Amino acid sequence: MREHLAAYFESHRKLVEAGALQRILDTAQPLDLSRRLIEAAGPSSPIVTLEMVESALRREHGGAVSVPPPGLRPTGGPPPAAGPPGTGPTSATAHPPPSFTLLAEGFIEPASTRPPLEAYEGLFASRYRALARMLRGRPELTGAVPVAELKRAERETAIIGMVGEVRQTAEKHHLILTVEDESGSVEVLVPRDSPAARQTYLPDEVVGLTLQLGRERARLPRVVSVHRPEIPVSRALGRAPRPTRALFLSDLHIGSRSFLTDAWGELIGFLRGEGPREGIARSIGHVVVAGDLVDGIGIYPNQERDLAIGDVFEQYAELARRLAELPPHLNVVVLPGNHDAVCPAEPQPALPAELARGLPPNVRAVGNPATFALDGVIVEAYHGRSFDDLIPALPGLTYARPTEVMKRMLAMRHLAPIYGGRTPLAPLARDGLVVDPAPDILVTGHAHTYGIDQYRGILLLNASTWQAETEYQRMRNISPVPAHAAVVALNDLSVETLDFEDGAPANGAAS
Ligand SMILES: [Fe+2]
Ligand SMILES: [Fe+2]
Repeated sequence: MREHLAAYFESHRKLVEAGALQRILDTAQPLDLSRRLIEAAGPSSPIVTLEMVESALRREHGGAVSVPPPGLRPTGGPPPAAGPPGTGPTSATAHPPPSFTLLAEGFIEPASTRPPLEAYEGLFASRYRALARMLRGRPELTGAVPVAELKRAERETAIIGMVGEVRQTAEKHHLILTVEDESGSVEVLVPRDSPAARQTYLPDEVVGLTLQLGRERARLPRVVSVHRPEIPVSRALGRAPRPTRALFLSDLHIGSRSFLTDAWGELIGFLRGEGPREGIARSIGHVVVAGDLVDGIGIYPNQERDLAIGDVFEQYAELARRLAELPPHLNVVVLPGNHDAVCPAEPQPALPAELARGLPPNVRAVGNPATFALDGVIVEAYHGRSFDDLIPALPGLTYARPTEVMKRMLAMRHLAPIYGGRTPLAPLARDGLVVDPAPDILVTGHAHTYGIDQYRGILLLNASTWQAETEYQRMRNISPVPAHAAVVALNDLSVETLDFEDGAPANGAAS
């Protein structure tokens, strides 16, 4: 974890004193604190000192520093003297304790005093700063000027801005983009036949544009090339030191009539080591569930017809019973989705205490999105509500191939950029949907399909649902791919798919 964090600071052109690094690692969400330190330090101070860390902690937590809960040790720390509580000596020998560190959650407490308009301005300013910082280091964009200074710029120049309106000229079908930064906004022209015209520009994404300014200044600046924040090609990769595995699921929809009880039973049997795949089962240390834990109430029209459990508290009680069937040595991470009973605006907080109370002690409820390390492998987990906005906006993309959408999320370094669509965005002071750092695994759900792919060395997983097709999905023409468990070897990120759809696991396909 230490190297990861040092590399993260380095990617932001900051050096961290050794003592400062240790102090950061001792906090409950080291990455979250690191982000705040980078933001606070600004471009002028290249070194992060212990004093800066201490004062950030004093400022933000009133001096209190929380440490990770006992039982599961942080990655990279010394192994615990005894096994975690609740595991006997036999299971401790068979299963080395999984190492889990929560690095950051997208959700932060809202500043209650800000009027909504101001709060959204704060959110977008935070997004702009975070993504512009990533773009600023690019050779093509060195010397990028603030939009307000374009009038005085050289004939060839660059800007970094957030895309506003995108429209087409009536006659010649050139594109006109409105691009905004902290200094102002400008209209730029993307000529119809240029390579830049073959791209899709999404509202509220941050891009770098190289521009050519006409001799007559009345003409709109022309876009020559487009740059997205992107995933750097060379970066530190997280891999587990031993062949431990993590299993990824999503969209359990507990409480729905269509919950796949038999397939769940088979999954539990497999994880308990029953059947021929006992060896794989034994190496699994983590289970991640990427949201829509329960079916919820009133999420779509006439949902009550599809419900087996009509009370949301009862749905969570049933979730707790189902998760208690998982072997207790597993580290289970659950995040909420749009069907869960937390505020739907993203980033979403973790399940509140009154819903999480009944969950077994080996289950951790985290926010949506959340960044965490599983045995040294950094996972960015996001439920995936923004598929509903990104799929219609990006030509050729469908729910059947969710990983294509995830590639675009990574190129934009943002999970849900579009404001005012189907994904409600919470006006928090910091944009928790920015993807930073680049993870080793990006996992989503929500699509109810299944996908494995990779992008610039990042494993992309769209985890499968445990709900059969519902009437509502039939109406919307979505054909789910349920009950597929993605089992990832954390030492090399190879994936094995176990299909429980028709009962026992069939054709395990490696990829
Ligand atoms: Fe779902
Ligand atoms: Fe969902």
